[in-house]
Amino acid sequence: MQTLALFEAPPPDQHLGPQALVLREFALPYVAEVMPALAEITAASPFRQMVTPGGYTMSVALTNCGALGWTSDRRGYRYTGEDPHTGKPWPPMPACFQRLARAAAQAAGFAGFEPDACLVNRYAPGARLSLHQDKNERNFDAPIVSVSLGMRAMFLFGGLARSDPALKVPLWHGDVAVWGGADRLRYHGVLPLKDEPHETLGSQRINFTFRLAG
Ligand code: SIN
Ligand code: FE2
Repeated sequence: MQTLALFEAPPPDQHLGPQALVLREFALPYVAEVMPALAEITAASPFRQMVTPGGYTMSVALTNCGALGWTSDRRGYRYTGEDPHTGKPWPPMPACFQRLARAAAQAAGFAGFEPDACLVNRYAPGARLSLHQDKNERNFDAPIVSVSLGMRAMFLFGGLARSDPALKVPLWHGDVAVWGGADRLRYHGVLPLKDEPHETLGSQRINFTFRLAG
């Protein structure tokens, strides 16, 4: 039995930088509340694949909740108060999302985090996200809180220049990555997802990225 318990223990929390941390399984206690709230969000503002300014269709499908939502089209990346697909405001951020983001930020050393934007990314097998910085936010004082649910992903966490070497960090269901301060503008991305179906979410990965955008 002891061997089994050891085998099943999550990996320990992992520092990715002076102010960047993966909190293993931190989101697990929130999942039962978060998934039905997500279903309400996607009923109002469905997942869709957006086009980059360069004209590529993103492999990741996305939606948003909160006062501001991240969007992309041929004119560029930006935050908008309305969903361009519905012409209505993005769905409000559920209280359980806010609690999760705030608690994770606090656990990583960023007390008082009040996000106004939650980008929801859905990865099917093969979907990926190329290296980028999160820099469309109005200021960089607040951290990024990034929640992983469903299939495992290989997260890339690089440096402040695109060419800097990147750490490869596996993220499992329930893990939360937080980066801010000196690490706020580090390049990051996700390698193409392998199809390793998750026991409850199946062949998909859901990522919530909480930000203070406005
Ligand atoms: C993002 O950078 O927007 C998402 C990262 C992830 O899916 O883990
Ligand atoms: Fe990002």
